[in-house]
Amino acid sequence: MQHFKMYINGNWVESKKKEHIDVKNPSNGSVFASIPRATQEDVEDAVNAARTAFRSEKWRSIKPHERGDILFAIADKIKADRDELARLESMDVGKPLSQAYADVDAAIRYFRFYGGAADKVMGDTIPIEDGLLDYVVREPLGVTAHIVPWNYPLQIISRSVAAAIAMGNTVVVKSAEDTPMTAMRLTEFFDALDLPAGVFNHITGFGYEAGAALSAHPLINHVTFTGSVGTGIEVGKAAMENVVPSTLELGGKSPNIVFSDCDLEKTVEGVVRAIVQNAGQTCSAGARLLIEESFKNVFLQKVIEKFEGLTVGAGLDDKDLGPILNEKQYNHVLSLIEQAKKEASVVAGGNPITVKGCEDGLYVQPTIIDEVSRDSKLAQEEIFGPVLTVFTFVGESEALDLANSTDYGLVTGIWTQDISRAHYLASRIDSGQVFINNYGAGGGVQMPFGGYKKSGIGREKGWIALYNYTQIKNVAVKYN
Ligand code: NAI
Ligand code: MG
Repeated sequence: MQHFKMYINGNWVESKKKEHIDVKNPSNGSVFASIPRATQEDVEDAVNAARTAFRSEKWRSIKPHERGDILFAIADKIKADRDELARLESMDVGKPLSQAYADVDAAIRYFRFYGGAADKVMGDTIPIEDGLLDYVVREPLGVTAHIVPWNYPLQIISRSVAAAIAMGNTVVVKSAEDTPMTAMRLTEFFDALDLPAGVFNHITGFGYEAGAALSAHPLINHVTFTGSVGTGIEVGKAAMENVVPSTLELGGKSPNIVFSDCDLEKTVEGVVRAIVQNAGQTCSAGARLLIEESFKNVFLQKVIEKFEGLTVGAGLDDKDLGPILNEKQYNHVLSLIEQAKKEASVVAGGNPITVKGCEDGLYVQPTIIDEVSRDSKLAQEEIFGPVLTVFTFVGESEALDLANSTDYGLVTGIWTQDISRAHYLASRIDSGQVFINNYGAGGGVQMPFGGYKKSGIGREKGWIALYNYTQIKNVAVKYN
C-alpha cells in the first residue's frame, strides 16, 4: 500500500493535520493507497502559492504558445503512460478497463485541444471615432479552483485544468476523495516539467472540508465544479460571497426519445450503452427511455434482451459493467430499486449481485423499471446507477413534454429517421446537448457541454470553455 502526498507550491507535502484518507478499489473493496486529508490551512497554502505564481513576472513572461507547449508536454506524458493510467483509473473508479482507456484518450485530447488553443484566443477592436483606438483583450482571471467528482476524474480534471492554464491562470485542483489516483499521476507529470512553483497545485481531501474551504477562499478567482445539484449550489453560493464566477456541471436525468421509425439495432445499442457506461454513474447517462407507445413492446423487449446479456465484474476484468463506487451510492441505488418494486414494475435485473473473487465489491444488476409514475422520485431524480426508467408517449408534443418534465436538462437523444421531426424536437428541448441518432459523439472534446435548468451554469469542453477562464478588459486610447 502506497501513501501519497499533495502538491503545493512545487513541493510534495503532507496535510498539516497529518491525517489520511484510505483509497479503495471498489471492485473488491480493498484499500490500496492513502492520501492526505487536507484542511483549511492546506487550502490556504495552495491558494497563496497559486496567487504568488500568478502574479510573478516569471509566469507572466511565458508566452501563450509556450503555455501551449506545457499542455502538449502533459498530453505526451499521458500518452506514454496510457496503459498505467487506464489501469489506475479502472482500479480506483471500478470502471471497465476499456472505458478507462477511453477516458485516458479523452484526457490526451483535452490537453492537445487546449494546448493548440493557447495562442489563438484573440481580442477585438471597436470603431468609436477618429483618433480613438478602442481594443478589447481577454486576460486570465488569476487563481482557478477545480473541484472534481469521482466518476470521470482524469477526464474532468483535464478538461478544465487544460483550458485554465491555456489562458494563463494558475490552478488549485481538489481531487475526489474516492478517486484521487489518476489526478496524482497527472500531478507527477506537472512536477516533472520545469514550471514555476505554484502554477499547478493539487490538494486531496473531503469535499465538506477541503472542497468547501477552497470554494469559499477569498483569493480564488473562479471555481469549476462537477457533481450534485445540492453541492453545486453550495459551491456557487460560496463563490458568490466573493463575487467570483463559477462553472457548474450538475448532472441530469437525460432522456432517449425513441420513435418507431428508428433504426432498431443501432438505437437499442445506443440506448443501452448510454445507461450502462460506468455502471450508470455518469452525469450524462441516458437514464430515461421514452418510447413511442405503438413501438413499446417491440423495442423494450429488445432492450431487455440486451440487458440480460450484459456482464458484470471487476474493472480490470473489463466486463460491460463494474461496481458501484461506494456504500453511500450503492445504498442510494438499491433503495430506489426497492421503491420501484413497490410502486412500479422491475422488468430486468433489480438485485445486488456477488461477483466471484470480488465478494466485497458493490455490484448491482443492470435494471429496467417500467410503469414509472411521471412525478415519482424514480422519474425525477438521479439514480446514478445502471438503472433505466421507461415511459411511453404518443406523438411529438407528448414526447417533448415528457423530455422536458424534470428539473434537469443536460443531454437528450432523439432516435428517428424523420429529419424534420428530429430538428423540430431539437429546437424545443431544454437540454445543453442534443444527439440525433447517436449518443455522445465519441466523447465530444470539441463540443460545448453543460446544462439547461438545474443541470448547471456555463459550458465546459470545446472552444467556448476557454472563455470561462478569461476576463475582458476594454482599453480606449485617444491620440492626435
Ligand atoms: P458531491 O457533489 O457531493 O461531490 C462532488 C465533488 O464535490 C467531490 O470532489 C467532493 O469532494 C466535492 N464536495 C462535496 N461537498 C463539497 C462542498 N461542500 N464544497 C465543495 N466541494 C464539495 O457528490 P457525491 O456525494 O459524490 O455524489 C452524490 C450524487 O451526486 C450522486 O449520486 C450523483 O447523483 C451526483 N453526482 C453527479 C456527478 C456528475 O457527473 N454531474 C458526479 C458525482 C456525483
Ligand atoms: Mg477508489
